[in-house]
Amino acid sequence: MDRDDMLLSPAGVEALRAALTSADFTANGIAGRLGPQATGGVARNDFRAALRATEDRDPLGTLIRVFICDQTEPEPAVAAALAPLDLADAVAAGLVEPYGDGLRAGVDLEPYGDAWWVLADVPASARPGRPLHSEHVLGIGGATQTLIGATVRHPVDTALDLGTGSGVQALHLATHARRVTATDVSQRALRFAATTAALNGQDWELLRGDLVAPVAGRRFDLVVSNPPFVVGPGTTTHVYRDSGRVGDAIGAELAAAAPGLLTEGGTMQYLANWVHVAGEDWAERVTGWFAGTGLDAWVIQREVADPMAYVHLWLTDVGEATDPHRAAAWLDWFDAHKVESIGFGIVSLRRNGHEDPVVRVEDLRQRVEPPLGDQVAGWFDRQDLLRAHGADGLLDLRYRAAPGLQLRQEATIGDEGWAVDRQVLTMPHGLRWSEEIDPLVLALVGGCDGRLPLRDQLALLAAAHDVTPDELAEAAGPIVARLIERGLVEPVTH
Ligand SMILES: C[S@@+](CC[C@H](N)C(=O)[O-])C[C@H]1O[C@@H](n2cnc3c(N)ncnc32)[C@H](O)[C@@H]1O
Repeated sequence: MDRDDMLLSPAGVEALRAALTSADFTANGIAGRLGPQATGGVARNDFRAALRATEDRDPLGTLIRVFICDQTEPEPAVAAALAPLDLADAVAAGLVEPYGDGLRAGVDLEPYGDAWWVLADVPASARPGRPLHSEHVLGIGGATQTLIGATVRHPVDTALDLGTGSGVQALHLATHARRVTATDVSQRALRFAATTAALNGQDWELLRGDLVAPVAGRRFDLVVSNPPFVVGPGTTTHVYRDSGRVGDAIGAELAAAAPGLLTEGGTMQYLANWVHVAGEDWAERVTGWFAGTGLDAWVIQREVADPMAYVHLWLTDVGEATDPHRAAAWLDWFDAHKVESIGFGIVSLRRNGHEDPVVRVEDLRQRVEPPLGDQVAGWFDRQDLLRAHGADGLLDLRYRAAPGLQLRQEATIGDEGWAVDRQVLTMPHGLRWSEEIDPLVLALVGGCDGRLPLRDQLALLAAAHDVTPDELAEAAGPIVARLIERGLVEPVTH
């Protein structure tokens, strides 16, 4: 990296790393210095206890005051905290900026994980009234963390982060990929990402360009993207949020690009928004994105927002919530396109070389057991199992109900006592699915103790219910496949 590629020169980055390391400006170092009460306050943006604990302004105290509590601090204290980095270099790089009678944070320099630092722009909320740079570099927000948690973390050879911004996804990829490539359309973002990489002693290939253009013709084992997914008329004011594509087209564009980006067995995961249009099934709309890709696709809708709340959220994010014209133009566009609400979720794709890909688009709005990435990996594994055995082969396997599986009943009292209205199987772990089932399937699941093949279980049930085993197998097969897909029953493999 040379000077133009990073916020600081390579020597400057080394000096900054030395300063942060010697002060122990890490998540643990800060927690140790502040103690639990002040640390809890900081998490709630209440800095009073943290400021009391750092009044002596030693290097760690000053770094906490500047970069965590967003205070303006005296120049000599800031210079001492950043040494051996030259203060003039830090100001020229924009790490700190003159303000009032001292210096304050010019960037968001965030200790992250056990011993990482991530560089991004200061958020709009911390600089009210100051317009956000059009190439604002996003810090670690909710969407960022959603993708981090959802990523399948298997060891891979090559990984790609599309729209890297601060570089935080790439940092994580480097823990399980031998080579990491990160792209962004914004040169400004790439300078932040390059600085984040160097500050953490990592080495990524960084490329500039629109979506997949910089990696055209190349394939990766894992691709992740937290793209500018916000849905609207296609105008771009802030590149971290606006793709310039109309409506939810970026989600479809990434789906179409996926087959050409993935190695055999490769996985691609990205965040997306999609519109719910009046009179249209949102899941069918999203399913259409994957037609002809030949990829297994699992799309989970995690949240749904109404247009008003959505527009307010994203205008607040860039500090423009008070601009009535922006809000009105955006809402007019939603009205004109009959958009009733906007879904947010995670797309997970896998190239598996089969001719019968599975595309599942579903609501999964319950809280799930972290890390979601393990659940995604499990979903693809279960698709492999279902495909490998086929409907008939599944009958030969033995099954166990998922550990801790619960049955919930709703019943109404009547002349003859309780009449059961609904029976619902609920998983207390993992994806925490709930599945309404009929008494026959309930009996089947109750008998899944790992001893009898499903075929024998069905034969016993058929005799008890006076139907033929074949009839029962035909009726129960798809239901059992669904229970396997959702992990409510598990094949016994030993
Ligand atoms: C929502 S931010 C995500 C940043 C970071 N990866 C994260 O997870 O926090 C989206 C990023 O995509 C970049 N971007 C926007 N439009 C792009 C495009 N057409 N091609 C590539 N990158 C783009 C933005 O500059 C920004 O860094």
